[in-house]
Amino acid sequence: MKQEALEVLKNRRAIRKFKSEQIKDEELQAVLEAGTYAPTGMGMQTPLIVAVQNPEDVATLNRLSAENMVNNPRPGTLPYYGAPTIILVLSTSLAKNEFLGTLDAASVTTNMLNAAYAVGLGSCWIHRAKEIFESEEGKALLKKWGIEEPVRGVCSIALGYSDMEQPTPKPRREGYTKIIK
Ligand SMILES: Cc1cc2nc3c(=O)[nH]c(=O)nc-3n(C[C@H](O)[C@H](O)[C@H](O)COP(=O)(O)O)c2cc1C
Repeated sequence: MKQEALEVLKNRRAIRKFKSEQIKDEELQAVLEAGTYAPTGMGMQTPLIVAVQNPEDVATLNRLSAENMVNNPRPGTLPYYGAPTIILVLSTSLAKNEFLGTLDAASVTTNMLNAAYAVGLGSCWIHRAKEIFESEEGKALLKKWGIEEPVRGVCSIALGYSDMEQPTPKPRREGYTKIIK
């Protein structure tokens, strides 16, 4: 058994405090590449993965995410926890339907979270990509980035060097798995 991979999968945790120092290009590339090797329905590779490092756009994404917290907008907070890189996983029209597109995006996101930990980065899956890119400002960002095709925000990741102790996981719940022989 390849213990190293299993250890990464077990020990990765959500990181919610980041150093301001930007990550290295090769670290970002490793994470993005891992995303592109995730399983996707029929191998269609439907998501578009966008890494945002421009501080102005990172700030806008934090603001839009905070403003779009459903039922509980929290303007002024940093939903991406000060991470210097934000990865967006967008669903494109390559997806046969919305459900498959969402599953593909989640698959890609999970690969990138694990890859981030494997290369020594901290990461956290962040909700509300959908709401961000349904907003007029979100759509304007896509336009500015040259993304003209119709896309749907599905997942996003805060990425950077961790500035906190590695959390210990909650115990796994009773009955989480079942083996039928
Ligand atoms: C669909 C999904 C949405 C999430 N959204 C957020 C979020 O908006 N903010 C956040 O801090 N963590 C978010 N998380 C991270 C989870 O809270 C975290 O994975 C969970 O508490 C388990 O902790 P672990 O990742 O350390 O195992 C999200 C995770 C998933 C899978």
